[in-house]
Amino acid sequence: MNPRVTAIEPSLIRAIAAKKKADSIDLGLGEPTLLPQQRFIEAAARWAAEFGVKYTVNAGDVRLRERVAAHYAYPGMSAARNVVVTTGSQEAVYVAIKTMLDPAGDELLIVDPAFPAYAKMAQLEGIPYRHVHLREDDAYRYDVELILDAVDRATRMIVIASPANPTGRVLRDADARRLAEGLLARGGPPVWVLQDEIYRELTYVDDPGNLARHYPFTIAVNSLSKSNALTGMRIGWIIAPDDAIDAMNKTHSYVTSTASAFGQRVAYEIFGEPGALAEQSAWYRAQHARVTAALDASGLRYVPIDGAFYACVKLPNGHDSLAAALDLVERRGVVAIPGRIFGDSLEGWLRLSWVAPIDQVEEGLHRIANM
Ligand SMILES: Cc1ncc(COP(=O)(O)O)c(C=O)c1O
Repeated sequence: MNPRVTAIEPSLIRAIAAKKKADSIDLGLGEPTLLPQQRFIEAAARWAAEFGVKYTVNAGDVRLRERVAAHYAYPGMSAARNVVVTTGSQEAVYVAIKTMLDPAGDELLIVDPAFPAYAKMAQLEGIPYRHVHLREDDAYRYDVELILDAVDRATRMIVIASPANPTGRVLRDADARRLAEGLLARGGPPVWVLQDEIYRELTYVDDPGNLARHYPFTIAVNSLSKSNALTGMRIGWIIAPDDAIDAMNKTHSYVTSTASAFGQRVAYEIFGEPGALAEQSAWYRAQHARVTAALDASGLRYVPIDGAFYACVKLPNGHDSLAAALDLVERRGVVAIPGRIFGDSLEGWLRLSWVAPIDQVEEGLHRIANM
C-alpha cells in the first residue's frame, strides 16, 4: 500500500458522528438542512429524458462554463476556458493542490484554523505544508500581515477559505487588496492563493473580499453544495487564469474524467436564473440573527460569525476539546466537533453547526454552557 495513505489517521469527525444517538441534538453536521430548489432538478430531468446523460468534455459543458465565468466575472478569468467543473469543491481543491505545487520543493501554507482536508490532501501528494495560526486573542480574524510574514521562499500556494470553516470569519475586501499588494511586492515566482469560496453566498458582513478581484494568481473554488443545499449532487468548479486552468484540467481529466452530466445540467439551470445561487441565503441571514442572540444569552465566548453556518464556542473551564466532544455526545446528547480537528490554534474550542432548528441550537448551547 501507499505509505502516504496508511499514514493518514481516520477522521475524528466521523468517529464522533458515529456515536450520535437517535435523539441527539446534532450541531456537528456541515451540511444544509434545507431542501434544494426542486425546479432546477426537474428541468434537468426533462433535459435528460430528451438528450440522455452523456459524457461532457473533461472541463465540463461549455455553456455551463460560460455561465459560471460570466456570473463571477473575475478579471482575466471570465471566459468559459477559465472554468473547470469538478466533482464538488473537494475535487477542485485536490486538483489545485496536486497540480500547482511541485512536491520536490514547493510548500503549501495553510491559514488555520482550517478545513482539515487541505493538509490531508498535501500529505497524500507528498507536498510539504506549514500552518500559519490566526490568533485566538484576535478572534481568529484574517490578519493579513501575519499571513504575509509567514510566506517564505518555498511557499508557492496559500490556501484560505473565506468565509471560513470552522470559524466563519471572512476576509474583508481591504484585506484582500492588502494581501494582493503584499504578495505582488515580493517579486520572484508567484505565490498562488487558493481561495475556497464554498460559503460565498452565506456572508453577514458588507465588505467580503474575493482575492480573484485583486490578484492575478488566484485560483477560486466553489460548489453548489452549501449555497443550494446540493451536497450530494457533487458539482463544484475551479476558476483560474489560462495556463493554470489548462494544467488543472489535465489532472481533473485523470481524476474523474468529467463531473456528473446530470449535476452539470442542474448547475446550468441554476446559473441561468438570476438570484438562484443566493436564494437560500435569506434563511441563513435570519437564522444567523437568531443564533447570535442565543449565543449572547448562553454566556459562552464565541467567534464573531461573519459568514458560513458555524459558531466556534470556547469551552468553559479550560476543557480539552476532544474529551469535551466525547462527553457531550456520550452523556449529554449533543454532537459538536472538537476544535483541535481544525488545528492547534482552535484547541479548547468546539465548532457548532447551526442549521438545526433554533430550539435545538439553544438547548445544545445550554448543555455546553453547563458542562
Ligand atoms: C471549506 C470547505 N471546503 C470544501 C468542502 C467540500 O465540499 P464539496 O465537495 O461538497 O463542495 C467543504 C465541505 O464541508 C468545506 O467546508
